[in-house]
Amino acid sequence: MQQDVPLSRTSGDRTPDFYVYPDQPPASAELVGAVARLRWADGLELDAYALWLFENQMGDVTIEERSRESKFDPADFPADDVLRNVAVSTDGDVIAEWADGSTSVHHSGWLRHVAEQRHRPDAFLPEIEEWTTAELPAPPTHNGAAVLHDDGILLSFLHDAVRYGLARLENLPPEKTSLVALGERIGALRDTNFGVTWPVSVDLKPTSTANTPLPLPPHTDLPTRETPPGFQMLHCLVNTTTGGLSTMADGHAVVRRLEAEHPDDYEALCTLNWIFFNRSPNHDHRWSGPLIDHGAPGMPLTIRAFHPVRGFPDMPIADQPRAYAALRRFSRLAGSDEFQMRYAFRPGDLVLFDNRRTLHGRTAIDETGGVRELHGTYIDHDEIYSRTRVLTRHRTARELRLA
Ligand SMILES: [Fe+2]
Repeated sequence: MQQDVPLSRTSGDRTPDFYVYPDQPPASAELVGAVARLRWADGLELDAYALWLFENQMGDVTIEERSRESKFDPADFPADDVLRNVAVSTDGDVIAEWADGSTSVHHSGWLRHVAEQRHRPDAFLPEIEEWTTAELPAPPTHNGAAVLHDDGILLSFLHDAVRYGLARLENLPPEKTSLVALGERIGALRDTNFGVTWPVSVDLKPTSTANTPLPLPPHTDLPTRETPPGFQMLHCLVNTTTGGLSTMADGHAVVRRLEAEHPDDYEALCTLNWIFFNRSPNHDHRWSGPLIDHGAPGMPLTIRAFHPVRGFPDMPIADQPRAYAALRRFSRLAGSDEFQMRYAFRPGDLVLFDNRRTLHGRTAIDETGGVRELHGTYIDHDEIYSRTRVLTRHRTARELRLA
C-alpha cells in the first residue's frame, strides 16, 4: 500500500467529474478475467469491469476534458480482453495497461467513492425520517432572512425538507419576488397550467378548490400528471384571517401504519387505480394510478390524493367497495391528531414540502374575518436533490482543504 501519499493531494482535473477527492490508494490491484479487482486495507473491494474502466479514461480517448463527459461511441467498444494489467502506482493512482500498449491513470479517491457507493442517486442526501405529531409537532424552522445568501442555512433547510418531507422558513420578506429569488438559489421551478408561481387567495375567482374558503383535507397536488410535482413551496404574504390553519401529515408514516394494521386496505390502495383529471375549460390533464405508488425500487413514494380531481374508479365494479373503504380509512388516518400537525401561517413564513410524500391541507377560512394571501410554486425532486448534493459536496471539499 502506498501510505506515503499525502491526503491533501486532491484530484483536481484528474477525475471524470468536477469534485475533489483525497487520494485513497488501494492496497492491491489485480486483473481477474475482465475485471480489475481493487482491494483497500480496510477490506473494501471494487470490481471494475474492463470496459467501464476503459470509458473512464481521462485524456484523449474517452472523457472529454472540458465537460468531463464521455465522448466515446458505445458502437466502438473493443472486446473486454483489451485490459491487460492493473497496478497501483507509487503516487497511489490505479494504472491500467491496454492492449495497444497505452496506459491510463485512474484517481484512487474517485475509485474509492464508487466502492463506497457514493456515486448512487441517494448519496449525499439525508435519510428519510418518518414522523407522527408526537415526534414532530411543528415544521423544522430556519432563518428566511438569511437563506438567500447563506449556503449553510440553505443546506440545513433542504436537508430537513428531504428528511422530514417539510421544512419552514420564517421572516422571508413577504413579497412576491421572494419565492422566485429562493427558487433561483435551488433550481428550475416547474411550470404548470397554473403558471410558474400562483396565488392562493379566497378573494379570487376560483380555478381550484384552493381558492375557496373551504377546508382542504389531506392531499397532494396534481395527481392528474404522469409525474406529479416533487416539491411545493407556499409563501404567506398576508394573513389577517381566523381559521385557515395549515396542516401536514407524513405519508410515509400513514402508509406504514396502514400496511401494519390494515393490510387489506393497504393492498387496495397500492393496486387499484383511479383516474384523476382536472375540470378546466382549457386543459385536459388526466392520469390513472394507485393512491399509494411505491414505483420502481429506489423511487420516491408518490401519493395521489387530491380528491377534487379524483374522477373515476379505474377498476372492476367488484373492487370498488373495498377501494372506497380503503380510501376512507386512509383519509381518516391522515387527518387524525396522531398524524396531522396544524400550525398558523404567518406573513413571511414559507413552507417547502414534498408534494408526493407529505399530505397538506388547511382548516376552513373565515371569509368575513380578513385576507389570506399565499404565493406558491412547484419544484421537482431533481432540483432539490441536486442542490442538496452540490452544497454538501462543496462543504466536504472545504473541509478537506482545511484538513
Ligand atoms: Fe394543495
